[in-house]
Amino acid sequence: MNMQQPIVIGHRGASGEAPENTLAAFELAFEQGAEGIELDVQITKDGEIVVCHDLTLDRTTNGSGLICEHNWEELNALDAGLWFSEAFTGERIPHLRQVFELVPRGHLINVEVKHAYEGRMEKALLAFLDEMDRWEDIVISSFDHKLIHRIKQAQPNAKVGLLYAANLIDHAAYAEQLGVDVFSLHPYHHCINKEDVVAAKASGLAVYPYTANDVADYKRLIVAGVTGIITDYPARLRNLLG
Ligand code: G3P
Ligand code: CA
Repeated sequence: MNMQQPIVIGHRGASGEAPENTLAAFELAFEQGAEGIELDVQITKDGEIVVCHDLTLDRTTNGSGLICEHNWEELNALDAGLWFSEAFTGERIPHLRQVFELVPRGHLINVEVKHAYEGRMEKALLAFLDEMDRWEDIVISSFDHKLIHRIKQAQPNAKVGLLYAANLIDHAAYAEQLGVDVFSLHPYHHCINKEDVVAAKASGLAVYPYTANDVADYKRLIVAGVTGIITDYPARLRNLLG
């Protein structure tokens, strides 16, 4: 592959074609030629880390209520595929450990932390990642930049990224001023242009825009020189990149 080309990152897996944040979606992303995946994490009542975008179960499972009010065993009994299509009946909410078992070393796992849970999430996540010992594959990102700051201070091995959805400031400069070593910027894909990418790269930052799904957007981001593109359709982007 041309070194200038961005890597393909499956957003919640290949979530355009399989139920988001399930093992089926992650597996499909790699089958379609993704080099990495993005996923969202939540914490259970008994302190386990599970993969789900929402804080609640209602949209993507046959359960209801807050994930943090259920134990892992209860969550593991729920269906997380049927809402998407009958073909995926029986898919479960994955434990983060199951995703790590699925993804071969050398592939990017972008863990997005949705909520701090009063510090419980970062504590549990760092303990888990320490045990996994594959820091080179992991990028932890969040819209909560204070949480990102705390994570990097607590664990210098962690690669951390800043998510943002609006250009209220110069994010490359902001990342440099944050007081910890930031690895990457994760802008909404309409919030980044070539000039921004050049500035970010000059500051040593990787750039992983989300969530682009149209070929026209892929082309714009490729020309801008981004490091990777987070997409619901890894096969579509792979076909374009070759
Ligand atoms: O990590 C990029 C993107 O996933 C952030 O937004 O809502 O899809 O988690 P969301
Ligand atoms: Ca996400």
